Amino acid sequence: MINKFLSACLALFCICVHAHAQNPLQFPPLLTGTVFNLNIQTGTQSFYTGTNTPTYGINGALMAPTIMVNKGDSITLNVHNGLNVQTTMHWHGMHVAAKNDGGPHQMIMPGSTWSPTFTVRNNAGTFWYHPHGAGQTDPHVSKGLDGFILVKDSAEATLNIPRTYGVDDIPLNIQSKSFDILQQIAIATQTDTALFVNGIIHPYFDAPAQVIRLRLLNGSSMRTYQFGFSNGQTFYQIATDGGMLDTAVTLNRLRLAPGERAEILVNFSGMQGQQIHLKSYASELPIGIYGASSVGFGQDTIPDYATNFLNGIDFDILQIHIAAPTSNPITTIITTLLPLNNWNTSSANVHRQIDLDTIRNLPFDTPNLAEGPFGINQKTFDMDSINAIVYLNDVEIWTLKNHTLVAHPFHIHDVQFNVIERSGMPPPANERGWKDVVLVMPNDSVKFITKFTDFADNNTPYMYHCHLLHHEDDGMMGSFLVMDTAASVGIHEQNLPQKVSVYPNPTTNYWTIKSENNFKYTSWKLYNSIGQCIESTPCNQLNSMPKKLGNTAFPNGIYFLQLESDQDAQTIKLIKQ
Ligand code: C2O
Ligand code: CU
Ligand code: CU
Repeated sequence: MINKFLSACLALFCICVHAHAQNPLQFPPLLTGTVFNLNIQTGTQSFYTGTNTPTYGINGALMAPTIMVNKGDSITLNVHNGLNVQTTMHWHGMHVAAKNDGGPHQMIMPGSTWSPTFTVRNNAGTFWYHPHGAGQTDPHVSKGLDGFILVKDSAEATLNIPRTYGVDDIPLNIQSKSFDILQQIAIATQTDTALFVNGIIHPYFDAPAQVIRLRLLNGSSMRTYQFGFSNGQTFYQIATDGGMLDTAVTLNRLRLAPGERAEILVNFSGMQGQQIHLKSYASELPIGIYGASSVGFGQDTIPDYATNFLNGIDFDILQIHIAAPTSNPITTIITTLLPLNNWNTSSANVHRQIDLDTIRNLPFDTPNLAEGPFGINQKTFDMDSINAIVYLNDVEIWTLKNHTLVAHPFHIHDVQFNVIERSGMPPPANERGWKDVVLVMPNDSVKFITKFTDFADNNTPYMYHCHLLHHEDDGMMGSFLVMDTAASVGIHEQNLPQKVSVYPNPTTNYWTIKSENNFKYTSWKLYNSIGQCIESTPCNQLNSMPKKLGNTAFPNGIYFLQLESDQDAQTIKLIKQ
C-alpha cells in the first residue's frame, strides 16, 4: 500500500518535473577531415505525437552535422541538393572567395552537387552554415537546414578551456519555430512559440559539475534571446561571432540576435545534484527587438505580435541537470585569452553609410515602420544589380543607421568587423571582439570598421543583409563586389593600363579624362561610394566619354568611374576634395 502510494507520488513528481523538459538534448553528428559530403534531403519528424511534420536535413531528416575544421586546412564541401527545389549553402562568418560563399548567386539545382574548395582562414571560433537562396532562406532554415562549423587553431589550443564535443564543449543552436494548425512548419507568422535546442523540443542536458563551454548560436528566424541562468549565476563570455575575445567578460545576461554566436564558460563545480535552467529573460529586452513585449512603440505595430505568449516574458530554454564531473575536469575560469588585433580606425580610407529603412513601392504607400517592407539604402535585393563596390585591402568604416521602429541584426559576408560605436558610444566589452552580425536598435546607429582582404572578384558579389530571415527574404539585402584595384589614392587601372588616364586626382572641381590612342569605351558610369550610379544618363546606356567631368556639385569623397569596352572593363577610383 505504502509502496503503491509512494510510486504514485513519484510518478506524479516526475510528470511535474519533466512536463516541459522531457527530451534529452542531442548533439549534431561531428564531421572531421578535409572532405565533407553534405546531402540535403527531405524527411519527417514527429514533433507532435501522431503527426509527421515534413522537414529538411543534411545527412539526416532534420538539421545538419557539425563540421569541425582546422585553420589552414584546405577543405572541400560536396553539397548535394536532394530537394526538388533549388537551394544554396552559405558558410556564415567564414572568410572565403565570393564564388565559394554560397550566396544567392551560387544556386544548387535539384539533383546537382556544388563543391567549393577553400582554405580555412578564420581563427578558431563558432560559425554556422545555412541556405541563402533568393527569397528562400527562411523556409529552408525553418525546415531544418542549418548546422555548426567549428574552427580550431593552434592559438586557441593553448588555452585551458573545455573542448570535448558534447561533454564539456556544448553547441547549442537555439531556434523558435511556428507550426500551423496541421502541425507543419510555418514561416512569416507571429506564432513562433515552439522552442528548440539542436532540433529538440523541451530538452534537458546532464552537465558535468565543472567548467563547461557553451557555444550559443541564435539560429532563429526572428527572435532575439536574453540569456541567463535561473539560479542567477554569472558566466564568462570568451568568444564573439568571429573568435576569441582578449579577456573573458563576466556577465549574467547575454543578448543574442538571429545569426549571432557567443561562447561562454560557466562553472558548475560543486553543484552536482542541482537542477537549473538556461533561460531567456525576454521581459528585459528593450521595445523594438523581436521577442520584446512590443515592437513599434505603440505607433506602427506588427499585427498578431502581442498574442505570441513568448514575447516579453521570461521562459526556459534548456533544463540542466548537474551530474558527476568527468575524470579530468576543468574547474577554473581563465580570464586572459588571445590578442584581438582589431583594425585601427586611423587606417580607414573609406566611409560608407548604410540606411536601414522602409521602402515605398508606390508614392502613396505608407510603409509600416515596424512591419516594413524594409530595404537598404532605399533598395530591395535584386539578383542582377550591385549595390556597392569595395576595393581589395581597403579599410572601411560603415555607419549603420536604423530609421525604423524594429531592431535589425545587420550581417555582412566575407569579413569580420570590429564595432567601434553603438549610439555614439564605445560598444560594451562583449561586443569588442570580431563580429559578423550586429543588432542595430530602432532609430539608432552602429559604426564598424573592417578590411576587405584576400579575395577580389569583379563579377561575383557578396551579400550584406538583415539576419531576420523574413526581412532578408523580403529584400532587406544588398550586394557588394570586392574589386582588385590598388586601394591607395591616385589612378588605378586594371587590365588596360595604357588606355585611359584621369587627372587631377584628387581634385576640387573637375577630372580630365584622357583616352590614349583613341581607345573607345562603349559605356561609362560614375558611382558614388555607396554604389549609386550618379552620372551617365540613363545609367547603363552607351554614352560618349566626356573629356572633362565637372564635380563641383558632388559631395567630397570617393567616386568610381567604371569604363567598359567590348573586350574589357576598367574601374578608376576618383577623389573629390
Ligand atoms: Cu547567415 Cu547571409 O547569412
Ligand atoms: Cu553570412
Ligand atoms: Cu530586419
